Amino acid sequence: MARPKIALIGAGQIGGTLAHLAAIKELGDIVLFDISEGTPEGKALDIAESGPSEGFDATLKGTQSYADIAGADVCIVTAGVPRKPGMSRDDLLGINLKVMKAVGEGIAANAPNAFVICITNPLDAMVWALREFSGLPHEKVCGMAGVLDSARFRHFLSLEFNVSMRDVSAFVLGGHGDTMVPLVRYSTVAGIPLPDLIDMGWTTQDKMDAIVQRTRDGGAEIVGLLKTGSAFYAPATSAIEMAEAYLKDQKRVLPCAAHVDGAYGLNGFYVGVPTVIGAGGIEKVVEIKMSKDEQAMFDKSVDAVKGLVKACKDIDGSLA
Ligand code: APR
Repeated sequence: MARPKIALIGAGQIGGTLAHLAAIKELGDIVLFDISEGTPEGKALDIAESGPSEGFDATLKGTQSYADIAGADVCIVTAGVPRKPGMSRDDLLGINLKVMKAVGEGIAANAPNAFVICITNPLDAMVWALREFSGLPHEKVCGMAGVLDSARFRHFLSLEFNVSMRDVSAFVLGGHGDTMVPLVRYSTVAGIPLPDLIDMGWTTQDKMDAIVQRTRDGGAEIVGLLKTGSAFYAPATSAIEMAEAYLKDQKRVLPCAAHVDGAYGLNGFYVGVPTVIGAGGIEKVVEIKMSKDEQAMFDKSVDAVKGLVKACKDIDGSLA
C-alpha cells in the first residue's frame, strides 16, 4: 500500500518543523509548498538528508506548484504573514484572507479529499475562510489551537504539581486568543479535578488563576522571548497529533477549531470545542455542560470570533 501523502502549505518555521516531525514519525511522504522560492526545496532536502541517521522511510519534496500536492491525504496550512509592528488587525486579516483564498482554491483543485488542518492566525476566522474558499466538507476542515492551548496548560500544571505531564489532562474551549476558556473543572491530575486539588491543599486558587492567565498569554510569552517570530515547535507537534489521529483513525478526543452546527447553541460556526478525530475527519463535536460563568466566558469568546468573521466578510464581499 502506498504511503499517505502529507502536504504542508507554508514552509516557514512551523511548516519545516511539521515536515521534520512527520518524517521522523513516518506518517507518510511529504510535500512542502511555499511561494518563497528555494525555502521548501531547501528544507525538504535538509530533512531528507537527516533520514539516514534517523532511519525513516519518507520522501520529501519542496515546490511552488499546487499540482505537486495532488491527491494529498492531509494538508496542514501555515501559509501567511505574522502581524508586524504598525499593522492593524484588519491589515493582517486582509493579507491572510487573500492567502486563504489562494490556498483554499489550490486544495480544492488538487486535494479535495484531504483532511485540512489550518494553523494560520487569526485562527478561528482563517479556518472558517479556508473552508469557505475551498468548499470542502465541514468535517474535513478544522483548525489547530485547542491541542496547543491545552498542552501549554498541561505543561504549566505539571510544573506546579511537580508531576509528569502525561498524568495531567487539561481542557480548553473557545477561540484561540485572549478570550480562550481554560476549563479548570474539567482539568485533572490523574483524574483528580483541579478544584479538588485546591481543596486537598496541593495548590491554591491564586496559583490556578495565574496558570490560567499564563495559558491565555502562552503565545505572547513565546513571542516576547523570541522577539523575531512566534512559537513553532509546540504548534507543529499539536497539528501532527491531529493529523496522526486522522491518518490512523485513532478516534482521539482533541480540542480543535471545528464547525459547530447545533451544539453549544451555534449554527454553523467555527470555534474551539472538544472533538473526536478519526478517519472521517471531525467525527463528532462533544458538547459539555457549562456553568453560568463558563458559559459567559465561552459566549465572550464566540463574540470575539464573530467580530473577526464579520471583518473578513467586510474585506471580501464574496464571503458575505
Ligand atoms: N502560499 C504559500 N505560502 C505562503 C503564502 C502563500 N500565499 N504567503 C506566505 N507564505 C509562506 C511564507 O513564505 C512563509 O514561508 O508562509 C510561510 C509562513 O512561515 P513563517 O512566517 O515562518 O510563520 P510560522 O511561524 O510558520 O507561522 C505560520 O501560523 O501560528 C501561526 O501566527 C502564525 O499565521 C502564522 C502561521
